[in-house]
This record gives sequence, structure tokens and C-alpha cells, in this order.
Amino acid sequence: MRTEAHRRDFSAHPTMATMPGEPIYITTPIYYVNDKPHIGHAYSTTVCDVYARFMRFAGCDVFFLTGTDEHGIKVEKSAKALDITPQELADENAKTFEDLMSQLGFTNDDFIRTTQPRHVKQVQELVKRLIDADAVYLGEFEGWYDEGQEEYYTETKAKDNNYNSPVNKAPLVRAKESNYYFRLSAFQQPLEQLFKDQPDFVRPQARRNEVLGRLREGLLDVPISRTNFSWGVPMPNDPEHIIYVWIDALMNYVTALGLADSDSDEFKARSKYWPATYHVIGKEILWFHAVIWPAVLIALKLPLPKCVYAHSFWIREGQKMSKTLGNFIDLPTMQHYIDTYSLDMWRYYMATQGPLGSTDADFSSHHFHEIYSSDLVNTLGNNASRVTAMINKYFDGKIPSENAMQIADHDWPAICNDVVNTSESAMKELDLSGSISLAIGLVRKIDAFINLTEPFKLAKDESKADELGAILYQCVEALRIASLLLWPVMPTKIEELWRALGISIEPNTGNLHELAAWGGLQLGGKVEKIALFPRLEAPAETQKTSSSA
Ligand code: MSP
Repeated sequence: MRTEAHRRDFSAHPTMATMPGEPIYITTPIYYVNDKPHIGHAYSTTVCDVYARFMRFAGCDVFFLTGTDEHGIKVEKSAKALDITPQELADENAKTFEDLMSQLGFTNDDFIRTTQPRHVKQVQELVKRLIDADAVYLGEFEGWYDEGQEEYYTETKAKDNNYNSPVNKAPLVRAKESNYYFRLSAFQQPLEQLFKDQPDFVRPQARRNEVLGRLREGLLDVPISRTNFSWGVPMPNDPEHIIYVWIDALMNYVTALGLADSDSDEFKARSKYWPATYHVIGKEILWFHAVIWPAVLIALKLPLPKCVYAHSFWIREGQKMSKTLGNFIDLPTMQHYIDTYSLDMWRYYMATQGPLGSTDADFSSHHFHEIYSSDLVNTLGNNASRVTAMINKYFDGKIPSENAMQIADHDWPAICNDVVNTSESAMKELDLSGSISLAIGLVRKIDAFINLTEPFKLAKDESKADELGAILYQCVEALRIASLLLWPVMPTKIEELWRALGISIEPNTGNLHELAAWGGLQLGGKVEKIALFPRLEAPAETQKTSSSA
């Protein structure tokens, strides 16, 4: 038997893994506009979105940034081939990325484009500060130059090609060029110190080890300007020179907060978000984020991000995705999955099966269908339908009383409290699948509880009405609490569930902890029967795979 006092205990003292109002800043890479959006872009952004939604719900003050990387020789060349200006090309393609954000239900707080004046102005200011700090100098470079490709080759590559262009076979020329260099070599020691002091600066661990290995080989200064193209941000002191696109791009993380423009409204409202909590990126761009970016920040005397999180890659049906194979999961393919299985299932698959660890993840239509059926149809959907149907059948759709009863040794308030706290802690660590599987695990526990207590049998015995009510109350209340933890990944379906449970919740008010306290559902509230996830036929190729297995 449980008393009212026992119940209040849990609501009054939730263990909090996050501080209310804590500023959190999470960023995606900014995406190249000379590419069409694909699963890679969708993935990095989904990871950030699920985290951002959860942390806002948990009461944190979150800023979530994404955007597009629009400068550079590739954009200039593609635009030329299309006979349009680079800006026109950038505008057109940036729009497809912005559309992607709303299509996939992302809640980014801003979308930065590197061609925006606010960004360009601050990049120039930041580079000026680097020059003033003597972290940037004018140096000379000599090497084998391919005039057709407008590209320098290393001695090895030039030799391998008999000192001819691998593309048009014309002889390579010995060329000299003046470039501005960033004094990366001067930051060897501070970077080694950073990796020592902040063991979680790069995650996961395997990626950190790779960076450390390369760091030990020693750092060379890096050229940060070129004169062979014009589509970019000019050096503040020497406009013939265009700032290297990677320096320009990395700076988006601070220009979006107005950090180099203290008179701007952005600075006033957003400077509190720096340093970033997480820079979420793909493993192929780790060096820029884990070595060059912190060195630039040290030179600028700005605080360093807390964590650069480099995820691995999606591969498809066991094969690497590539332009040559033409097997990229592009927008139309993503749309097909969304139309068939729902946007929430797409997000669920990304978040729970994605390559957040150090190994690549395989996207297969077979596996996608299996996860849908096991986790969403047979677990969450089935449980919601079972519980709401029984409340309708036995209690006329009205939430029954818990009757202060503890059934079959299940201390539901304690169980739920523990799941909420551990799920939140996992999310805080960016362990999306860990956090979500705890919530799904709670739903499985409710199912097991139903199987154990057999309410459908008790319903036949009128003298057991109190017990039946208590069981169903505990089921629906635990389901409500699990649903709070699942909202960040499946907002649409969970809001549908909330409507069926007769509750209205506004997650942006940051009241997760209050709502997660046991006893939120009111006696007599109206519950409707709900079917959240329809059972679907396995796709044709899945049937083939399963029958041949
Ligand atoms: N513009 C740079 C990033 C600059 S950040 C200051 C860039 N852009 S990109 O358009 O190529 O986007 C790359 C991002 O897409 C990677 O960081 C990674 O997050 C994601 N992915 C690209 N292919 C991927 C997979 N196959 N799987 C998962 N994500 C991968 O690099």
C-alpha cells in the first residue's frame, strides 16, 4: 500500500541531471551548397534536434544552430558551368537545405549562411584579430601546379603522374605563390595540453585517439588564403587574397552568436551560449574541428568548446554510399520512407540506429522495417492501444483511481523516477539510443506488468474493481511518463498520444521534471482509444531477404 506522502516525495525531489536555465549550444556542420541534401546532412541535424528538444524540455536554455557553407572554388566553378552567379547558385541550394529543416521537423534556432553580411563582416574582424595577434603571416609557397585544375600537387602525386596533369595531361609547372598562413605549429603544446585537461574534448574515444596520433606527428602552418578565385571573404588587409573556405566556415559557430560584433543584437542576446556544448560533426571533418578550430580559438583568446562529437557514417545495404555507385540516400528516398512509415519513425531510426559510436551503421530497408515493427508497432503502439482500450472497456474511458495500492511489488513511482533520471543523463551525454531505449524499456515493463497482473481476467470479477483500477492507472501513468521521454524523437506521434490521454503539454516551457512526477493524470480524466502505428507489409526486398535467409 502506498500513501499520499509517499507519492509527494517523488514529485518534490526529482534528481536533476541538468540545471534549470543552463545555457546549451549545439551545432551541426554547415553544409556545402554544391551538394544536394542527403542522409548524412539529415543525420547530423537529427542528432542535434533530438538533443535540443530534450534539453529545452528539461528546462535548459538551448541554442541550436545549423546552416550552409557557401563559398569556395567549387561553388564558383559549378555556377560558371550553369551560367549563373555563385550567389544565385548558393541562394537556390541553400533554400533546399532550409526546406529540409522544416520537412524533417527540426527546431534550429537560426540558419546561418556564410554569404550573409553578418558572417562576412565578423570573419574579417576575426582574421584581423589573428593578424594582430601574429597568428597569421604572409608566407611563400612553391610547388607543382596544374594550370587546368588550378591546383597544387604534392611531390609524390606529381611524380606518380610523371609531372603531367592527371586530368588533361599538360605538363605541371613549377609555381610560386604568396599566401597568408595560420601559425598552427605554434599551438602544438597548447593543443596537447587541451587534450590532457579535457579528456572529453573529442568523442568518441576512438576518434580522440586518432587525433592524438596525428598530433604527435607534429603540426605545420596552414595556408589560409588563395588568390586563384574570388568567391569568398577577402582578407581584411589584402583583398586580393580570399580567405580559405574552411577558416571562413568554422567561424560560423561564433559569428552566429555575434561574438565578433559586440554592438550587434545577436551579441547581446546570444553571447551567453559560447562556448559550445557540442559541435556535432562527421568523422571526415574531425581534424578541422579538433585541431585547427581550437588553435584559432586559442589565438583569438576565446573559450574552447566543451566537446567535438564526431559520428561515423551511414552505409547502405552493406555498401559505402558514393556518387559513382549512385546509391546515396537522397531526399526522394528519405521522403519515400517518411511517407511509408511516418516522419517519427524516420527520426526514431536515425536516433536509435545511427552511427553515433565509432563504427559505421548500415541502413537497410529490412532493418528499418524490423525496428518499426518491433519498437513502434509491437511495443509503443501496442501498449498505448492496449492500455487505452482497457480503460475504455472497463472504466468507460475515465481514468480510474490508483486507490493507493502497490501491485505485485511494482513501485512504479520509483521505477519511473529512475528511468527519467537515467534517460536524461544519457541524453546529456549525447547517448541518444541509450536515452531512448530506457523509455522504450519502460513501455516494455508496462507490458510485462499487464501480462503478470492480467487485468482482463480481474475485469470478470466485480470484487476486484479497485485492483483493476489501480493496475490500469499505473499502466497509463507510466505510459504518460515514458511518452515525455520519447517526445524529443517522435514529437508528432507523442502529441497524438497526449491528445488521446486528454493532456495538453507544451514542452518548450521546460517543465519535464514537473510533468515527470508520478500522479500527473487526474482521476476521471477522459482517455480515447488510440492506434499510433499501423502494422505495415514488409517491403518487397525485405520479403526476398527474409525468405532467402
Ligand atoms: N561544409 C563542410 C563542413 C563545415 S563545418 C564548419 C562539410 N559539408 S558537407 O555538406 O560535406 O557535410 C558534411 C557532413 O555531412 C558531415 O560532417 C557529416 O556530418 C555528414 N555526412 C556526409 N556523409 C555522411 C554519411 N554517409 N553518413 C553520415 N553522415 C555523413 O563537410
